[in-house]
Amino acid sequence: MGKRRCVVAALAAIMLMMELAALTVAENRRSMLSNGLGMTPPMGWNSWNHFGCNIDEKMIRETADALVSTGLSKLGYEYVNIDDCWAEISRDDKGNLVPKKSTFPSGIKALADYVHKKGLKLGIYSDAGYFTCSRRMPGSLGYEEQDAKTFASWGIDYLKYDNCNNDGSKPTQRYPVMTRALMKAGRPIFFSLCEWGDMHPAEWGAPLGNSWRTTNDISDNWESMISRADQNEIYAEYARPGGWNDPDMLEVGNGGMTKDEYIVHFSLWAISKAPLLLGCDIRNMTRETMDIITNKEVIAVNQDPYGFQAKKVRMEGDQEIWSAPLSGYKIAVVLLNRGPVRYSTTARWDDIGLDPKTVVQARDLWEHKTLKTTFVGNLTATLRPHSCKLYVLKPIA
Ligand code: GLA
Repeated sequence: MGKRRCVVAALAAIMLMMELAALTVAENRRSMLSNGLGMTPPMGWNSWNHFGCNIDEKMIRETADALVSTGLSKLGYEYVNIDDCWAEISRDDKGNLVPKKSTFPSGIKALADYVHKKGLKLGIYSDAGYFTCSRRMPGSLGYEEQDAKTFASWGIDYLKYDNCNNDGSKPTQRYPVMTRALMKAGRPIFFSLCEWGDMHPAEWGAPLGNSWRTTNDISDNWESMISRADQNEIYAEYARPGGWNDPDMLEVGNGGMTKDEYIVHFSLWAISKAPLLLGCDIRNMTRETMDIITNKEVIAVNQDPYGFQAKKVRMEGDQEIWSAPLSGYKIAVVLLNRGPVRYSTTARWDDIGLDPKTVVQARDLWEHKTLKTTFVGNLTATLRPHSCKLYVLKPIA
């Protein structure tokens, strides 16, 4: 081999080694949280939206009972998540978190056992700061390993990790500490980063957590809900099996929106591959609420194995088209009227990634009907104010 060839070969070998090293780093970063959870968006319930700090073990047990008796658990709603305010304000003399004696006298382990016996999973809440957002209990900053071990020993399956009352350091410094602690704790725990989207967690959340909040807290009204869907959509490219954008929990059933608005809420969360965490009192739900949250076909869009988050593919004034590819060559499409008057809206094939000549069968997921005619090039629907249609399109020719 000539001298020049030798140099070229040596250089190629060095470059290959550098590439391998870079791959290993990428692999490590990706696998910092390798818990295998969240292959589809998590489904369940969380106490915060409806109950705030008004929580106790009886209510949590009754909620678990209701998840089973209503049939919700069979549809995939499996997490029973306790939010803020479950612990005493002070740790014990060994530095452990202590469940609040007045409201959780039997302790969290007993609750986890109860919930597990029903085939459900238990979630809990802490904070990457000195106190949680309510300031009524300690956060885990400086106690990450100890708290992760405690959670694992109790049988916790899901941790929501908030961002209040911290030391001023960046979330990218504080969140990985809990990721590592959870990985060491010896139990797969879904890790939900609740950083509110401040530092664009979609850009760094995937190696650290199974979901990351992209927005501030939702409230039970149209403006709040729809603006959270908008902010979350920006990061669509980052969602994938194992790591999801989180526009906050559901308000369906809490009374602040109309039926059409709650259908928009549930449709957008489903097509955006958002966590479907119910936020109402599921022990007392109306028929209307049940009809919305038990729509199997809409849930199937959310739980589709491909895990592509929908994007807005057209906006014209108050009319919008959101779409996402599904497995089996299907496409989910939301036709949305955000305005205050009835309007006719069209989804065009070239916007949603179909050849304009494709013949399509359309399934209306809220009417539970496959439309009688097929469609070529586009599909139009007339929409009431603040309402939407959710179709699954299936190319047939
Ligand atoms: C923050 C979170 C909410 C909730 C409250 C609890 O505001 O974003 O989802 O957990 O804290 O205090």
